[in-house]
Amino acid sequence: MKVLITGATGFIGKRLVQRLLQNHIEVVCTGRSLSKLDHYIGRVNILYLDIRDKEKVEDVFKKERPNLVFHCAANTTNNSLRILRRTNVQGTKNVLDACLEAGVDKVVYLSSISVIAGNKEACLNDCLPYKARNRYGRSKIAAEKLAREYRKRGLEISILRPSLVYGERDYHKVSLMVRLISKRLIPIAGRGENEVSLTYIENLIDVMMIAIDKKSAYKGTYIVADKETISFKDLFLYIAKLLEIKKSWFLPDWLVSIFAYCPFVGGYAKVFLENNICSIDRIKNQLNYIPKISLYEGLRRTVDEHKKRYKLKRNY
Ligand SMILES: NC(=O)c1ccc[n+]([C@@H]2O[C@H](COP(=O)([O-])OP(=O)(O)OC[C@H]3O[C@@H](n4cnc5c(N)ncnc54)[C@H](OP(=O)(O)O)[C@@H]3O)[C@@H](O)[C@H]2O)c1
Repeated sequence: MKVLITGATGFIGKRLVQRLLQNHIEVVCTGRSLSKLDHYIGRVNILYLDIRDKEKVEDVFKKERPNLVFHCAANTTNNSLRILRRTNVQGTKNVLDACLEAGVDKVVYLSSISVIAGNKEACLNDCLPYKARNRYGRSKIAAEKLAREYRKRGLEISILRPSLVYGERDYHKVSLMVRLISKRLIPIAGRGENEVSLTYIENLIDVMMIAIDKKSAYKGTYIVADKETISFKDLFLYIAKLLEIKKSWFLPDWLVSIFAYCPFVGGYAKVFLENNICSIDRIKNQLNYIPKISLYEGLRRTVDEHKKRYKLKRNY
């Protein structure tokens, strides 16, 4: 089997490459910042590909003729909707068109929990209607709708909706949180009672591997998250304990509410004012998937790697 990955240079893509290689699967890695894949040179085929370039995407797919495509490439910032749409929507369309043209058997598309995160339900589930909280979420809704459309046109597409992903060598939100907690620069917002669902990277990669040959993965959509949810307060205190630093400090509710309306930090402050949890019942029931690594173990590994990285830098 030959597998092609878009976004192989990203946080999730790189971990997927590693796992596919461990399973002796032939991999074609595509992305733009290819130096991030230097340590895979000689073991995988590495190709420059900007998914906004329709012709190039078609050329690469026709030449490589993969059996399965993991479509991970996306603009994951909260840029303007116009910029996001070019990569996340038009880019996804280019990839799906190229899959049809090149006769790709299956596509695993990484959507996101953000496509339903705007719903007010206490716990998000796969039956809720589309509702985003931000521009990124809106672009992912448009891309997921496209994926469903191509499904109707005969392409086998598995749609996975991970909640916030964290893990070793992460450079996204959880990693930033660990860094800020380690420097005691971030307080626990309010009473910290709101809860969050996170996804440990290796649990997500397990699901992506299951999707390779599980037929039922190509129907519906599947929320992916760790088994446990955690309150923001417990999350901060647990990370602080792993970092062996003094307890975090608290910011009163009223001050957090004010921050929520400030430019730049507002989006982050709002996260702490709401529950951010989701149900993984569908993936459990339909794909028999139970996350192997607990949230606490995932966080321990993440913080351990952070500590090593930090110590290394300090020694140099
Ligand atoms: N991380 C999370 O918490 C999370 C949660 C839910 C869903 N997801 C979804 O999972 C997927 C992967 O996320 P991630 O965390 O790995 O993101 P990431 O670390 O930001 O990586 C994004 C990847 O997309 C590639 N990319 C961006 N624009 C591109 C373009 N125009 N052409 C080709 N490649 C392009 C980047 O390649 P270059 O850097 O080489 O340009 C990079 O490989 C995304 O679809 C994201 O929406 C992520």
